[in-house]
Amino acid sequence: MELDVPAAAGMTAAELRAFQRLLFDQTGIVLQDNKQALVEARVSMRLRALRMSSFGEYLELLRRDRSGDELTLLIDAVSTNVTHFYREDEHFTFLADAVGGWLDNGLDRLRIWSAACSTGEEPYSIAMTLDAVLGRRKIDARILATDISTRVLAEAKAARYAEAKLGTVPDARRRACFTRVQVDGEVLYEVKPELQAMVMFRRLNFKAIPYPIRGIFDVIFCRNAMIYFDRPQRERMILEFARLLKPGGYLLVGHSETLIGMSGSFRVIRPSIYERLKDGVRS
Ligand SMILES: C[S@@+](CC[C@H](N)C(=O)[O-])C[C@H]1O[C@@H](n2cnc3c(N)ncnc32)[C@H](O)[C@@H]1O
Repeated sequence: MELDVPAAAGMTAAELRAFQRLLFDQTGIVLQDNKQALVEARVSMRLRALRMSSFGEYLELLRRDRSGDELTLLIDAVSTNVTHFYREDEHFTFLADAVGGWLDNGLDRLRIWSAACSTGEEPYSIAMTLDAVLGRRKIDARILATDISTRVLAEAKAARYAEAKLGTVPDARRRACFTRVQVDGEVLYEVKPELQAMVMFRRLNFKAIPYPIRGIFDVIFCRNAMIYFDRPQRERMILEFARLLKPGGYLLVGHSETLIGMSGSFRVIRPSIYERLKDGVRS
């Protein structure tokens, strides 16, 4: 659609600082100065949608918006949601082994949290892993999947993916866990209802501590999200994860992330995999 609104003039340094401050205060996301071009491009999408021609006018709207709806749309626009099925696949092998061990010891209830679930590939990869490990065994297994972005949560709940997105799903899992559907002439792959039923999606902002969640989890995945926060915010998150994990449960972070110097309640099992200590005590 053609819009008869002039393109916004470049973002000034003061406007960039205002967006950085707003997003940091509301979400904890740190937008580096060298990301100006990216911020400008993403915020411009909101300006076009609102037929506004200046960043100043948009900042004013955000300040006046008591509902928080526009802030949500801004967060949707600036957050990076890259993900794929079985990303960092050793984590899913680790999960299968851990759950297998717990099942052998009589586990009949399992709670997993996919924190920062993006468009759903992570929680559905967890569901597919559990499906494979459990086989015909019936236990009470549930996955909580959260993100700050309402846009990605809506995509995740829809549970339909283009074939190109299934490249990292092993053939056997693809056959067992997806149904091929046609939507408006497009072929999509839909996660089977029994796997969808294992996952509950909720909006959660990592900045809003304490998290309004009734734990206790056996495993928490928080991968490729902490990189966007400063150290104090990461430390607060890790304390929350420790509070919400059972002793002997696991916290999995992205391969480029680490808990070094912040992991008093955890023991490193291997890079990016941490075990919650019993009462914060190293054995
Ligand atoms: C790169 S994706 C990671 C997806 C998945 N965990 C993975 O590793 O593939 C990062 C996600 O963090 C979410 N996020 C960013 N800031 C957040 C916040 N303050 N609270 C909750 N989620 C946030 C983004 O919306 C995005 O979906």
